[in-house]
Amino acid sequence: MSKYTLNVNGQSRTVDVASDTPLLWVLRDSLDLVGTKYGCGIGQCGACTIHLNGVPTRACMTPVSTVGRMKVTTIEGLAADSGKLHPVQQAWSDLDVAQCGYCQSGQIMTAAALLKDNPKPNDEDIDGAMAGNLCRCATYMRIRAGIKLAAGLATAGKGGAQ
Ligand code: FES
Ligand code: FES
Repeated sequence: MSKYTLNVNGQSRTVDVASDTPLLWVLRDSLDLVGTKYGCGIGQCGACTIHLNGVPTRACMTPVSTVGRMKVTTIEGLAADSGKLHPVQQAWSDLDVAQCGYCQSGQIMTAAALLKDNPKPNDEDIDGAMAGNLCRCATYMRIRAGIKLAAGLATAGKGGAQ
């Protein structure tokens, strides 16, 4: 076991874990940040997506020893300090994007990173960025609509949540 001090959602958090512990389990088990989900554990589904210095990253494939002082952002830290939802979260709520919800924190984290890099993505950009985030409930069309709404490329309501 070793001590690691991480920057998680703007707070300094120290954990005492084995060096090869995936960040996913540090977040969920040591820090009780359970919004980040375990899907496959092998980097294939995207359920565990968090941001490391703003870059969408698979927490299941990230040993805690490699994180250092990089900024870790989880779904719990995506909203503003004031509590105002991130535009992607607001769009997801407006369009009822989630079905069972299991994959959705990963979807939202990937979508938020996409819009930071590309504020006005087209369908191809969206499909490319989101391709690694699987949804067993097949909410893909609503995810795409949610990203467009968050980007200001669509309005909620009629036809917005195909
Ligand atoms: S749980 Fe990490 S990619 Fe599936
Ligand atoms: S909403 Fe159920 S897995 Fe995506």
